[in-house]
Amino acid sequence: MAVLKIYVAPHPVLKKKAEPVAGGVTKDLRKLLDDMLDTMYAYDGVGLAAPQVGVSKRILVLDIHQLKGDDVPPAEKRGEPQYFINPEIVWSSADLRIYNEGCLSVPGQYADVTRPDKVRVKYLDYHGKAQEIEADGLLATVLQHEMDHLNGVLFVDHLSTLKRDMLMRKLKKFTKDNEEDMAKNHIL
Ligand code: NI
Repeated sequence: MAVLKIYVAPHPVLKKKAEPVAGGVTKDLRKLLDDMLDTMYAYDGVGLAAPQVGVSKRILVLDIHQLKGDDVPPAEKRGEPQYFINPEIVWSSADLRIYNEGCLSVPGQYADVTRPDKVRVKYLDYHGKAQEIEADGLLATVLQHEMDHLNGVLFVDHLSTLKRDMLMRKLKKFTKDNEEDMAKNHIL
């Protein structure tokens, strides 16, 4: 159990295409999954991808049922955690969904992003077992957002250049204004 440091844009690890996990789900890998989940709950994220903690591997965790907030003790935030190793989208719907996205690596910034409403994803689970799910709604949005991280893509990359530049300028100011807090909380 450990809360890991979060890497914030424009750190280069967030722009890199992550490597697939080879050799199955080992004890060391499960430790990383556990730590990523702790980190996600600590910062009230709905999902977290390995590159966000500086590990360029195709791994993500999420929990769309978690309880959030400073008044909720970390041990009570756990809802229904899900772990995805080497996830791949095998189908996505023509129907789209718009969601106001944020990201622990782009702190303090939010924007509407349009993505397919439903996706089918195959992956390995926490126990290394091959799985396939069809996700819709928030789960589909979060999965696609986190899978983008594995390809070096941030939600701001889905916006117009004008909007992205504006958000990145605001992020720079936010990072500067909150530098002390962020360093104390192991962000940056
Ligand atoms: Ni993110």
